Amino acid sequence: MKHKLVCVRRLPPNVAARVRSEFDAVLDDARDPTLPEALALMAEHKADALLFSSGFRLTAETIAALPPSVKVAATASVGFDHVDLAAARARGLVVTNTPEVLTGCTADMAFTLLLAAARRLGENERLMRNDAWVPRGMGDGLGVRVWGKTLGIVGMGRIGRAMARRARGFDMNVIYTDLTRIAGEEALFVPTLAEMLPLCDFLTLHVPLTPQTTNMIDAAALALLPPRAVVVNASRGGVVDEAALMAALASGKVFAAGLDVFATEPRFDARWIDVPNAILTPHTASGTIETRDAMGFRALDNIAAVLAGQPAIDPLWS
Ligand code: DGY
Repeated sequence: MKHKLVCVRRLPPNVAARVRSEFDAVLDDARDPTLPEALALMAEHKADALLFSSGFRLTAETIAALPPSVKVAATASVGFDHVDLAAARARGLVVTNTPEVLTGCTADMAFTLLLAAARRLGENERLMRNDAWVPRGMGDGLGVRVWGKTLGIVGMGRIGRAMARRARGFDMNVIYTDLTRIAGEEALFVPTLAEMLPLCDFLTLHVPLTPQTTNMIDAAALALLPPRAVVVNASRGGVVDEAALMAALASGKVFAAGLDVFATEPRFDARWIDVPNAILTPHTASGTIETRDAMGFRALDNIAAVLAGQPAIDPLWS
């Protein structure tokens, strides 16, 4: 008999096909269920497992409302700030994530945002679409050079290190800060954020959202950046004080920003729409066909392992 799996996020075709072949699946290809609908589906089907992602908050209240049949909840994401791990542990609910498989594509997107912000891609593209390309002076619409500049990385985990490799390929100098120096890492370690910021022509954030990192990049931090700095965030929106970044972009203190994540997702502060020197994308850094398949498969591998009585591959608590 197949295990019952409730999916609360629409899935890529290859992942959906595997869900339907290996599980007794509850999966809607047309729309994601609301939270009450998801809980009702899990109770009705006596679900063994839940597949979700960062848009679905597995809070203490939600965990308390899960039917007792649910043994494992797999988030198709590397980040897990949307999960109350203490409540999961107290309930004995195994929760897993999907590290490693999205590292390269997330770094690709962060580097794309870096280049796009530096070269004012959004403004230039809008100019073309508005049929507003008129002869420009040599000094009009200029970006900033990337090669030869210093990239400061906050958080030298897998994605930070992948970002460093891309930056070196573009002839950038790479420095980083983290809780500790990373053994074998060739980039220069700077012990504190405050010491690193004045050195950063470009700043990129690759930390999880925790109480320690919330609003880590605030007005005081932005003030430490050198003139014409570029800020990139493909980690979590809450790491940046968005109002402070908007003010720094408006004043020209920060030259440009590339943002894939926002504090209030899935909505975002509408004032961003009127910030021309910010390039904005909808939390899509892992969004390639290959990577979303890999994330879905990794989540399914975790669920299958737990339901077979084996240890999870990527447990978030033990
Ligand atoms: C992740 O995996 O954490 C990405 O940000 C997608 O949520």
